[in-house]
Amino acid sequence: MSRIAYVNGLYQPYDEASIHVEDRGFQFADGVYEVCEVRDRHLIDETRHMQRLKRSLAELEIEEPMSLQALGCIMRETIRRNRVRDGSVYLQITRGCSRRDFIYPEPAVLPTVVCLARKISRKSNDNRAEQGIAVTTLPDIRWKRPDIKSVSLLPNAMAKQAAKKAGAFEAWLLDEHGYVTEGASSSAWILTHNDILKTRQVDSSILNGITRGVLIDLLKAEGIAFEEQKFSLEEAKQAKEAFLTSASNGVMPIVRIDDTIISGGKPGHLSVRLRKQFYSKAEFCN
Ligand code: PDD
Repeated sequence: MSRIAYVNGLYQPYDEASIHVEDRGFQFADGVYEVCEVRDRHLIDETRHMQRLKRSLAELEIEEPMSLQALGCIMRETIRRNRVRDGSVYLQITRGCSRRDFIYPEPAVLPTVVCLARKISRKSNDNRAEQGIAVTTLPDIRWKRPDIKSVSLLPNAMAKQAAKKAGAFEAWLLDEHGYVTEGASSSAWILTHNDILKTRQVDSSILNGITRGVLIDLLKAEGIAFEEQKFSLEEAKQAKEAFLTSASNGVMPIVRIDDTIISGGKPGHLSVRLRKQFYSKAEFCN
């Protein structure tokens, strides 16, 4: 079956779908995106993802090309046409096309809207979680606004590539003081030796992860103590447990940070419990 992409009003087979050579997303990474999980054909946490998309667009002064509800219809149709039961849907909006110039086009041009959907095996994700993953650490060399979910992801791609070379699944990024900011494509968490669950506070140094936010609601509902506070690499290496969160991985246990084994090399109890309970708080949208 040929995969179908949505581009500016058309659903087309991949080899027919295209964007303009002077799209500002292509020339300046002048665009934003969202990735939502698709589970049993439901869109997970659509409301929060769309609110974050709205914020990213506003921060870059890109006009909303249509209502959030209409964007939701495009995501659903893309999922349907690609017959995705479990996987993810990707929505990208760029400022649009105009003659290459750093200054934003005036008057504004129509934003480019692209939507893709792909299947991801839930089983292989669960198998990975049963083993636990390794993370490697690197300096955070991204721009100073990673709170905007922009398509400017070269440092993230470089970090992921370095992680792969080091035999790890994810890279944790370190600020100039040796504190973990977040993963290259995920939020970072530890359970300290005195049983405090920690994840960095939301500010302009990290993306406000949707999975992170839903998990915080779960922690509150379950009465599990947590702190939104930065933690150092040293603290992470001495942690009882560690895990990451993201739309494509849910709660994913970590069993090694660089060369240091975490929780005896097996997913920690709390990480496993939270992975299971996560979907009790997530929003399943039809
Ligand atoms: N990545 N931090 C970064 C830098 C991310 O790119 C992501 C998501 C997250 C987790 O956010 P959320 O829980 O909303 O997925 C944190 C997505 C999945 C991606 O780029 O594919």
